[in-house]
Amino acid sequence: MSNDNVESPTEDPTDDDMLLETDVTSGLEEGTQGSRTTHERTIVEAKDVNVWYNQDQALRDITMQVPENKVTAMIGPSGCGKSTFLRCINRMNDMIDAARVEGELYLGEKNVYDDDVDPVALRRRVGMVFQKPNPFPKSIYDNVAYGLNIQDIGGDHDAIVEESLKRAALWDEVKDQLDESGLDLSGGQQQRLCIARAIAPDPEVILMDEPASALDPVATSKIEDLIDELAEDYTVIIVTHNMQQAARISDKTAVFLTGGELVEFGDTKKIFENPDNERVEDYITGKFG
Ligand SMILES: Nc1ncnc2c1ncn2[C@@H]1O[C@H](COP(=O)(O)OP(=O)(O)OP(=O)(O)O)[C@@H](O)[C@H]1O
Ligand SMILES: [Mg+2]
Repeated sequence: MSNDNVESPTEDPTDDDMLLETDVTSGLEEGTQGSRTTHERTIVEAKDVNVWYNQDQALRDITMQVPENKVTAMIGPSGCGKSTFLRCINRMNDMIDAARVEGELYLGEKNVYDDDVDPVALRRRVGMVFQKPNPFPKSIYDNVAYGLNIQDIGGDHDAIVEESLKRAALWDEVKDQLDESGLDLSGGQQQRLCIARAIAPDPEVILMDEPASALDPVATSKIEDLIDELAEDYTVIIVTHNMQQAARISDKTAVFLTGGELVEFGDTKKIFENPDNERVEDYITGKFG
């Protein structure tokens, strides 16, 4: 048995564990269910998630287990519900009047749609980075410290700001201009600033919705390197339209197709080299989408 990516030594799977395995994962890296840990810990788990915008259904029966401290990519044609799914995880769909979410979505052991979950506290645990860099019209320092202030997080803010900018690979470029506006940075720097802002409150999960699609190749490659490093400490769930990017940076890939279905989910290598589903193969090889 390979020990790659094994968090802690575990016994051989029991029969019950085997029954809990889903047919979309492969190899030894099977997921978890509740507190039952096999080879890989699940941090986000969707069970039969359905989303409507008014009468139009955007996601259908989405069931998946996202592993902790890995990069999971979500790919699929425009309008298939990738952003909608990301927004389910930190309950950003709550802010869209037309949106209705049904099903269960767990962060760790807790269904984030339970009545006693405070969405603001949830978003401290689940940070988000958007397609278009969106620094606030504030200083670089205040951008990074923003979440610390609104969520009343104590500690040494100077140290947290510095550490977050270092982790976002931006510190060296901005350390002498922390009180200058975040809006005066280049697009690629702005996106790294937004990543620093997202990680400052020390979330468990970082959602990224096409974070590099507005950037040039050099800035894109910096963001990709950064995502790789972030996955040592965080779980990254990233939407991308760039198949090569998904193949390069992710451990797991979820393929959504038109109609809001999750058609296949599994190890990235398998999805790209030998998907089970013919529609996934057609999508990946560019026959449609
Ligand atoms: N705020 C909204 N109000 C109404 N319908 C919406 C809203 N947001 C998304 N939709 C609809 O839900 C479906 C899924 O949209 P979503 O933005 O999640 O797709 P996507 O996969 O992220 O697409 P893209 O790759 O273009 O970003 C689409 O049909 C879209 O028109
Ligand atoms: Mg989208």
